[in-house]
Amino acid sequence: MAIRKILHEGDPTLLKKSRRVKRFDDRLATLADDMIETMYDSDGVGLAAPQVGVLRRLFVMDVMDSEGEEEPVIFVNPEIIAEDGVQRGIEGCLSLPGLVGVVSRPLTVTIRAQDIDGEYFEETYTGLAARCVCHETDHLDGILYRRRSETVLCTREEYEEEVRRKAEIEAARQEEGDASDDDTVSELSADEECHDAMPEDEVDA
Ligand code: NI
Repeated sequence: MAIRKILHEGDPTLLKKSRRVKRFDDRLATLADDMIETMYDSDGVGLAAPQVGVLRRLFVMDVMDSEGEEEPVIFVNPEIIAEDGVQRGIEGCLSLPGLVGVVSRPLTVTIRAQDIDGEYFEETYTGLAARCVCHETDHLDGILYRRRSETVLCTREEYEEEVRRKAEIEAARQEEGDASDDDTVSELSADEECHDAMPEDEVDA
């Protein structure tokens, strides 16, 4: 296994559509092993082949199992065959280091793919894993999450500062509502706060 160089935004390779994998040989197995090692080395939860300069439809993912054990999965020629619901949360990418943005993704996705031996399998993912599957599949179509972000990409610190600022404004508004003794306003504010709450998860993929 070897750590491969991750391409950064600005490299035209990242904007190209990858081709299907046809040969399930040692070369493909080595590429997948290298991608897994590279993903762990960069503390990512997913990595797509074009990110290491290979325009083939392949990605690896490890969002950890419930015990926190490493559990890498290889997806060759993946296709999202069903999706349900929506989740809005922050996302990052190893090809856009240090940045985050808010992206809406399906809450649940079912993916059909081949394993490293070419055998087909289907799996349904939810939450962070579903977000990761969508993000990586996008990479195979030359799409970076900047294109899907609902916010201007910024650093994690800038993002947290913005969340704090919004919470302060919301708290001030809430106080005004309480002062006027208007229960309806208070309830509405609580709803909004809930709607805008961001999950803790961060995906660098
Ligand atoms: Ni990425």
